[in-house]
Parts: sequence; structure tokens; C-alpha cells
Amino acid sequence: MRVSILGATGSVGASALDLIGREPQLYQVEVLTAHRNAEALAQAAIRHRAKLAVVADPSAYATLKAALAGTGIVAAAGARELETAASHPADCTVASIVGVAGLAPALAAVAQGRRVALANKECLVSAGAHFMDAVRRHGTELLTVDSEHSGVMQTLEVHNRDQVAKVTLTASGGPFRTWSTAAIAEATVEQALKHPNWTMGQKITIDSASMMNKGLELIEALHLFDLQPDQLDIVVHAQSIVHALVEYTDGSVLAQMASPDMRVPIALALTWPTRRATPAARLDLTKSPPLTFEPADEVRFPCIRLARDAMQRGGGATAALNAANEVAVAAFLAKQCKFGHIAEIVAMSLEALERERLLDEPQGLAAIMSLDDEARRVAAMALSALGRRA
Ligand SMILES: NC(=O)c1ccc[n+]([C@@H]2O[C@H](COP(=O)([O-])OP(=O)(O)OC[C@H]3O[C@@H](n4cnc5c(N)ncnc54)[C@H](OP(=O)(O)O)[C@@H]3O)[C@@H](O)[C@H]2O)c1
Repeated sequence: MRVSILGATGSVGASALDLIGREPQLYQVEVLTAHRNAEALAQAAIRHRAKLAVVADPSAYATLKAALAGTGIVAAAGARELETAASHPADCTVASIVGVAGLAPALAAVAQGRRVALANKECLVSAGAHFMDAVRRHGTELLTVDSEHSGVMQTLEVHNRDQVAKVTLTASGGPFRTWSTAAIAEATVEQALKHPNWTMGQKITIDSASMMNKGLELIEALHLFDLQPDQLDIVVHAQSIVHALVEYTDGSVLAQMASPDMRVPIALALTWPTRRATPAARLDLTKSPPLTFEPADEVRFPCIRLARDAMQRGGGATAALNAANEVAVAAFLAKQCKFGHIAEIVAMSLEALERERLLDEPQGLAAIMSLDDEARRVAAMALSALGRRA
């Protein structure tokens, strides 16, 4: 199988390459990409004998080219080259760039009409209708790499789609699950980056701490599985062993379980519908801690409500939510705002854009990116207003 990985130097990219490295006879690596981590990209490209390595940031090109000299692996750089690389023929393209920066490359991969293993949830939050329309138009096989959505995919009975009552995504609750509102508001970057169960990239780790991640995942599920907002729910399950539950009209609930290891959903997306062995720890429920379930607290974690409201509102609200959240998370990581400001920035941005009547459904990629730009501009204003207030 020919595989390309967009975002190969990230957490999901590394897990995908780990699986590929364990069964090299199964895979031919075509394209690997990164933002600007040229050294790590070159190492991965050499180790997995990729044909092409691309950095999105042209300033990293010289390092990449030097590191690949004499290997026969082609080096390239820039946004256009990244999109071209994403459309390089592959039987499966893993779309694991973080943020809306991954949208155009993921769409280029979709346009091949083959298989896309989608980790980049921001694609569906920003451009769900447009993205799914492209998937249908090109006859692409879209498989999810998010653990909860992989759980849904595995428990959603194709022949009973009209009998689905409710789809519930589990949430670990993140590092602040038991913290008070006041303590959460003042949490430091170091505290927010300490996820109890998963090791992931910085942006998704902060999203997990604010629980915006679960809100983004509701919107992701809405589009992936063609559900209605009122069919989607969240439950906090601190052990991250049950990933999703699908309830049917007869009262049956099917759940998917696995130890929290991204290699399980990634492997399944690579080889679907076949399962192959992964090195993930085996579950022994007699030895695991008791499995607990509690309601999500939208007061201490207002990002869940913001995402739910945007999902209900529809139109351009989810694209704006995503862009404002990306700005807020980057500002928090750069220590330019408090943790509690993330939700405030998102809320202020959505209110401002609604007032300016800018939240109609954007038609096409250019309109989506222009709304994304506008939401970033408004979020930057909210950030500086909060700075003045502090
Ligand atoms: N990590 C998980 O366990 C997990 C689980 C489910 C879903 N996801 C989703 O998967 C996606 C990736 O997450 P991650 O944790 O793997 O992130 P990550 O560790 O931060 O990796 C992000 C990857 O994207 C590249 N990248 C970043 N900005 C880019 C840009 N502007 N243009 C092109 N490439 C860019 C990075 O390159 P550099 O290394 O050069 O910066 C890196 O290869 C996210 O959407 C996340 O929500 C992740």
C-alpha cells in the first residue's frame, strides 16, 4: 500500500510511521511533510525511504535539502508544493497536520478519490459541508483517525443507520477535571500541557484541557456520520478506555474499548476493514481501575457550550469558532493570556462576527478561508481587549 503522511513530524504522524516501520513489507512511503521541522522530517524520510519530503515553510528548505543530499529523496518547500505533494498518488493519505493550515492539503488528498485517514479535525470543524461534499464528489474513502470517532465507526451498524438514537463521545476530562472554575482560569501552560492519559501535540493537549477538543469532536462527528446535533452527546470517562457509545432505538448500547494508544485507530484507518496487530497494551478489565462516567460540566468548561452553540447555529459559526480558538490557544501557549481567556476570546469573537452578520455559510474554500481570516482578526482584537482589562 502506498502511504503519504501530511504532518509526519507530529504526534499522529510519528505513531503512523511507527506502525509502518513495524510492517515495512506492507507499505511504500510516498510523501512525508512537516511545517518547518526539517531535521526530523529528513530523518523520517530516510528511515522510511520516502520519495518526496516537503516543508510548508520555505525558510526550512535549505536544511531539508542538505539533510537529504545524496539520498535520492526529493525535497520541496512552500504552501503550493505542500498541496501538490498531497495530491501525489497514494492509496492512503494520512491527514495529520494540526489546525486549519491542513485544510487545503487535506482537500488536495481528497481530490485523488482514494483513501484519506483524517486526524485533522479542524478540517471538518471549519469546512465540514464543503469537505464532505468533496469526499462524495471524488468518491473518496474517508476514514477517521480520532479515537472516539474510530469507536463510533466500529459500533455504527451500517444496516441500522436509521435506528441510531444517540452517539456519545467520551472525554477524559483533561488535567483540570476536578479543578474549580477559579483554579482553571489561572492554570499555567505547564499544567495545561500535562494530559493525564494521552501524549499529543501541544494544540490538541490545550484543547483537551479546556475541553474545546470535545466540542470540536462533536462537530467532527456531525459531519463524519451525518448526524443531527441532538443525536450527539459527551460523557466524561477519566480512564479513556471506552472511546464511544452508540445507542440504538431498541435500547442497546454498543461501546468500543481499547487502551489509550493512537496506534489502534491509525492502524484501523490504514488497513480498514481489516484489523492488524498493534503494539498497544492489551486491556484486562479485571485489573484496570473502575470505569467511571460523569456528566460534562459546561460551567467549568464553557468551551463545550461554545462549540455546541456554534454547531446548533451552523453556517459559518464553526469555522469562526475554530479560528478564534486557534488564536486563543496560540496566545495562551505564548503566555500572552490566561487559560480562562481562551473561552472568553472565542465567545467575544463569535458575538462580534454575529453582530457584523458574518456568520452565513461560506460558499467554497476561498470564502471559508476569508471567514477564517476575519475571525482571526476579531480574535486578536479580543485578545488585546482582555490584555487591557487585566
Ligand atoms: N495527537 C493525537 O493523539 C491526536 C488524536 C486525535 C486527533 N488528533 C488531531 O490530529 C492533528 C495533528 O495532531 P498532533 O497531535 O499530531 O499535532 P502535532 O504533534 O503538533 O503535529 C502537527 C504536524 O503538523 C505540522 N504542521 C504544523 N503546522 C503546520 C503548517 N502551518 N503547515 C503545514 N504543516 C504544519 C507539524 O510540522 P512541524 O513538526 O514542522 O511543526 C507536524 O508535523 C490535529 O488536528 C489533532 O487535533 C491528534
